[in-house]
Amino acid sequence: MKTLFSLLILLAFACMPLGMKAQEVKSPDGNVVVNFSLDSKGCPTYTLSYKGKTVCKPSKLGLTLAKDKHANAGVHETDLKEGFAVVDTRTSSFDETWTPVWGQYKQVRNHYNEMAVTLHQTSADRTIIIRFRVYDEGMGLRYEFPQQKNLNYFIIKQENTQFALTGDHMAWWLAGDYDTQEHPGQTSRLSEVRSRMDMCLNPAPGRKPDGMCDPVTGNSSTSLVSPTGMQTSLQLKSDDGLYINIHEAACVDYSTMHLDLDDKNMVLESALTPDAVGNMCYMQTPCKSPWRTVMVSDDARTMLSSYLIYNLNEPCKIEDTSWIHPTKYNGVWWEMIVGHGNWHYTNDLPSVRLGETDFSKCKPNGTHRANTKEVMRYIDFAAANNLDQVLVEGWNVGWEDWANMWKFDVFDFVTPYPDFDIKALNDYAHSKGVKLMMHHETSSSAINYERHMEAAYNLMNEYGYDAVKSGYVGDIIPRGEHHYGQFMNNHYLRCITEAAKHKIMVNAHEATRPTGLARTYPNLVGNESARGTEYEAFSGSKPDHTVVLPFTRLQGGPMDYTPGVLETDLSTWSNNPHKVHTTLVGQLAVYMVMWGPLQMAADLPENYEKYSDAFQFIRDMAIDWDDSRYIDAEPGAYITVARKAKGTDNWFVGGKCNEDGHKVTVNFDFLDAGRKYECTIYADAKDAHYATNPKAYVITKKTVKKGDKIKMVEAPGGGFVMSVMAK
Ligand code: NOJ
Ligand code: CA
Repeated sequence: MKTLFSLLILLAFACMPLGMKAQEVKSPDGNVVVNFSLDSKGCPTYTLSYKGKTVCKPSKLGLTLAKDKHANAGVHETDLKEGFAVVDTRTSSFDETWTPVWGQYKQVRNHYNEMAVTLHQTSADRTIIIRFRVYDEGMGLRYEFPQQKNLNYFIIKQENTQFALTGDHMAWWLAGDYDTQEHPGQTSRLSEVRSRMDMCLNPAPGRKPDGMCDPVTGNSSTSLVSPTGMQTSLQLKSDDGLYINIHEAACVDYSTMHLDLDDKNMVLESALTPDAVGNMCYMQTPCKSPWRTVMVSDDARTMLSSYLIYNLNEPCKIEDTSWIHPTKYNGVWWEMIVGHGNWHYTNDLPSVRLGETDFSKCKPNGTHRANTKEVMRYIDFAAANNLDQVLVEGWNVGWEDWANMWKFDVFDFVTPYPDFDIKALNDYAHSKGVKLMMHHETSSSAINYERHMEAAYNLMNEYGYDAVKSGYVGDIIPRGEHHYGQFMNNHYLRCITEAAKHKIMVNAHEATRPTGLARTYPNLVGNESARGTEYEAFSGSKPDHTVVLPFTRLQGGPMDYTPGVLETDLSTWSNNPHKVHTTLVGQLAVYMVMWGPLQMAADLPENYEKYSDAFQFIRDMAIDWDDSRYIDAEPGAYITVARKAKGTDNWFVGGKCNEDGHKVTVNFDFLDAGRKYECTIYADAKDAHYATNPKAYVITKKTVKKGDKIKMVEAPGGGFVMSVMAK
């Protein structure tokens, strides 16, 4: 009897619906503390603190379900938001060290404490698990849905994960958009987000949009989330000195998350990307959501060195990764971007019908850049300058009517234009130790791409291509889908896994922002998914852009930013009036702060010949690392980093800053004791300035050893780089 009584008490305690018993899990160093509880309505709630300071006040968790004819009648009348009781809580610890195929470090530690809370919703008889993983630099949480009678298929109408902030933090943010991340980055207090957005959405009479500064600017596909919607990763800084970053990890078979701001209460809430009929995600148990992540530190450098997002992804699923390699490339590209040449072959055609249009009968327009002669010139340049590959865009038929038509069968990805000799060019490249890089612009016709993908990858194998840059310009087909919806996220992943079967590395532009999936599929060597260098030829990006992106866009994976434009004044060789918003040396510094195993030298061969001494850095630089040491960092202001080249004793150092300039002392304490290094320093000249004197630079050489210090002065919009070669 007594035992039965105790059991009842125990059961009652375990199934307690109210928030009487908060459950706590701490990071391995004890600084990050997550508390979980149920509120008075049985709604799951958490708090997060760092070194005793609150990061997230009580924040609700839950999901709103669709109640349409596809949902199991009755069962889904109740959302997964309230009426829960805790039935089980399990805690555990995990500590592993893994070796990335490429990245900032030779080895990565994945060390966390975990708490998995099993919740039962009595009214609907359903069970979910909320799993927390707490790291020294933040936490991840996700929803898990075990297979069960009353939760088999379900449709998510909205996810209601909150991040209740403690105040009106500074924010480095991007307008929330279901289709693009190419809007200019914004820096403001959270309380200013609405008015900044409003300025674009309801412009004052006569106000012209500012393509470089306004939060919302034209793009070939755009769908704003809300008047206070922002994208992840969102970088914040509190007045009490905490750097807070909100993002997601392992977004698989789910739609991408944005953040909607309640600017009265400073509460951020997840806003998923809808599909064509307004639903967010279609789920079949057992299944799980991506991780929702909050990184936190009182040192901005931790935001850059952390591998939290990758650690929350699954280990590598590709058994043999020997074919995945760092790739420095140039390309037949910048000429077209600035408007000095074209992707299309002829001006004769009002439209193209794949398989029917005979291009050999069309008159060439004379501005088609992907022609055999021009490509050979780029191959020669790559071979002579330590570049591995040459990207060629506009090699395949279909560019005459590729954009803004919402055309289904726009490209077949296998038929070259008559002036592009695919066999001869690949043979020529290989004979010089260089590969061509494939280009698959899908024009966002995803189904068309999927139909042609196997043939397209086979063609790549046939001619010896092992990397593809793909692209998703324009509105998505199937029509009504968004770039960041579940359908497209599954599409991007399918491209990566199918490419892996063909030993092909993928760099997808305009695809969804990465969430660390490159840990699992390291052939995802890059993405664009933000405003890249191409915008310098359209309207420009502010000098602070590349000292924000490493804090935000790079959290989930590297960016194919395509820097290295040493002729910063485009009007010197084209009709494009724009100037790049960095100094020449600032362009070199971008390679160091925007790390990634795929780096483009974007400028033309003739421009590199003009600045051959500065180009030497691009020839020499490594792009894959055994170690990275952040010397100093502040979002939107400056980043300085020293990186050790993979498999060598050489280091490369770089600093990049915003329009205010920056001074930093490089302390060579990272070098091996007793060894000498030849250090080549590429610095902004004293009078350099990104706007008025960008191409003023000084190159010096010095012998350095451990413990030496060099003071560097970065010009407004400038930076510096150093190659530090072991003697
Ligand atoms: C947009 C991409 O970002 C750019 O790099 C590419 O050249 C064009 N689309 C055409 O595919
Ligand atoms: Ca783009």
